[in-house]
Amino acid sequence: GRVVVLAGGLSHERDVSLRSGRRVAEALRGAGVAVEERDVDATLLAALMADPPACVVPMLHGETGEDGAIREVLELVGLPYVGAAPAACRVSFDKPVAKTIAARAGVRTPESVCLPHETFRELGAGAVMGSLVERLGLPLMVKPTRSGSALGCTVVHDAAELPSAMVNAFAYGSVALLEQFIEGEEVAVPVVDDGTGPRALPAVAIQPDGGVYDYTARYTAGSTEFVVPAPLSDEATAECARVALTVHEAFGLRDLSRSDLIVDAAGEVWFLEVNVAPGFTETSTVPLSVGAAGLDLGEVMSSLVRAAVA
Ligand code: DAL
Ligand code: MG
Repeated sequence: GRVVVLAGGLSHERDVSLRSGRRVAEALRGAGVAVEERDVDATLLAALMADPPACVVPMLHGETGEDGAIREVLELVGLPYVGAAPAACRVSFDKPVAKTIAARAGVRTPESVCLPHETFRELGAGAVMGSLVERLGLPLMVKPTRSGSALGCTVVHDAAELPSAMVNAFAYGSVALLEQFIEGEEVAVPVVDDGTGPRALPAVAIQPDGGVYDYTARYTAGSTEFVVPAPLSDEATAECARVALTVHEAFGLRDLSRSDLIVDAAGEVWFLEVNVAPGFTETSTVPLSVGAAGLDLGEVMSSLVRAAVA
């Protein structure tokens, strides 16, 4: 039967999702799978029910896609899909919750503080900042708690930049996460499980030209250097794989995930976040890992479809 690749949606990562969806659809077609690419709109549910596909591949990033909402609907109508179940998506998508779960699973994650917009407005820009900067040190990261592709994220080098960074984060959600900045090699580690057990693929090191892996550095060809396998010691390489697998299992993830980590100068591995619908664009890291593992993207995706349908 045919496979429906869901891409687009209405999150801030709509354009990224369209590119990921296109790439995955083409890879699946290359592996001989009949594919329909479909955006999310009011007619989706009726269309899926009228002509049920064999499987759905949700390549939706951000809200609806990664917070579990669309998968809740797929569960409801009984359609098999590739990827984690709704509850696991919800906790993965919420960075503070994810950091808490990771920490409980024994995974190191940078120290952080959550600040709701309301509290920020009550306290004002000046008062609260000193103690937060003192606690987390500089530079520090400011992020929306529920977003992707580094939208609303800022590296703050000077306490005076903190209020604007927070306003920027609040543009993407009502809670900001202030996080200790860990200096080191930024790496992305996918985990795939086509029914034979979770397997970590080679880590990709992310080296943006400007030093910061922001939205532009992510999606402008040539603006970030990717090194795969990441240039790490054997110990750090093994530790990255172990952490990604620990996260995949502790969060109850399925089929496919990508953990974003920092390896510091001492070789310690820090968890930043996990993605349940990682990017598959021309400049995304998962396809690079798949290639470095000697695998074909279409074969990997079709094996995940087969496992989801089985
Ligand atoms: N949020 C983007 C799609 C990624 O993590 O690759
Ligand atoms: Mg993400």
